[in-house]
Amino acid sequence: MARGKAKEEGGWKKFIWNSEKKEFLGRTGGSWFKILLFYVIFYGCLAGIFIGTIQVLLLTIDEFRPTYQDRVAPPGLTQIPQIQKTEISFRPNDPKSYEAYVLNIIRFLEKYKDSAQKDEMIFEDCGSVPSDFKDRGPYESGPGERKVCRFKLEWLGNCSGINDEQFGYKDGKPCVIIKLNRVLGFKPKPPKNESMETLAMTKYSPYVLPVQCTGKRDEDKDKVGNVEYFGMGGYAGFPLQYYPYYGKLLQPKYLQPLLAIQFTNVTLDTEIRVECKAYGENIGYSEKDRFQGRFDVKIEVKS
Ligand SMILES: *[C@@H]1O[C@H](CO)[C@@H](O)[C@H](O)[C@H]1NC(C)=O
Ligand SMILES: *[C@@H]1O[C@H](CO)[C@@H](O)[C@H](O)[C@H]1NC(C)=O
Ligand SMILES: *[C@@H]1O[C@H](CO)[C@@H](O)[C@H](O)[C@H]1NC(C)=O
Repeated sequence: MARGKAKEEGGWKKFIWNSEKKEFLGRTGGSWFKILLFYVIFYGCLAGIFIGTIQVLLLTIDEFRPTYQDRVAPPGLTQIPQIQKTEISFRPNDPKSYEAYVLNIIRFLEKYKDSAQKDEMIFEDCGSVPSDFKDRGPYESGPGERKVCRFKLEWLGNCSGINDEQFGYKDGKPCVIIKLNRVLGFKPKPPKNESMETLAMTKYSPYVLPVQCTGKRDEDKDKVGNVEYFGMGGYAGFPLQYYPYYGKLLQPKYLQPLLAIQFTNVTLDTEIRVECKAYGENIGYSEKDRFQGRFDVKIEVKS
């Protein structure tokens, strides 16, 4: 028994290293070397093909300008606060009911504070009235990072949070802040003065992309009541000097121009559908695609 076991053990050991035939695990050194060489070359080729494909793909991608941009242009218009779909419903004398909206706005405006725009290397003043596009050279890394126009919170007036930390919600006059989503290289094209007559705009500037909010259905139009607009220079729209946007590599701290709207006299206890639209010649409004230059928001102020 003991002998048999020893023999078995010996056979096993012999398999690992056969000193007579100089074989390791049943193969000679030369044979092992060939197998190893085969696999090194085989996997080397696989890795080469893989890396090559990725490299070719990367070559076709421009770091500063996306190759395929058809999904994002024209830009969408979005509103803040944006919680629970697109509904704003609250009771002015119940702070809990609007707390989330106010916090949402405060958090969003954080990067628009003066203290966040101090760095002279990044930010520059672009005036306090709307003016023409600011071309900042080609969309390449060449001259490095591009400057970003400052946006002053105080332009948002009663919706800036400076005088009214509740953004009107406490008084049943909710503020909504509107921005146009970033699209690299996009230059909005404002409508011509003549076509502006249909818009009940108080002030016209060729350097503003106008925005208007109205009741969506006829029954909403009366209930919306007065709408106040707070934007740069008192214009109800987006000033052009903030465009075009150079992308997050060249303008990592870019600030979109904002427009605040305040509903100061809505009819109480009824859901009102409001539609906001940016009016531009190169902005489309499709009923299906709410990410184009318009959005709907439901507002209900309960008594
Ligand atoms: C801003 O709020 C103040 C104080 O509530 C009010 O007197 C003023 O009319 C408001 N301004 C606008 C443009 O609504
Ligand atoms: C726009 O048109 C109005 C009249 O429709 C005119 O009073 C105003 O001066 C025009 N503004 C500009 C900038 O052309
Ligand atoms: C608010 O709207 C009501 C009608 O809904 C109107 O009678 C009232 O005059 C309006 N108030 C202001 C300050 O515009």
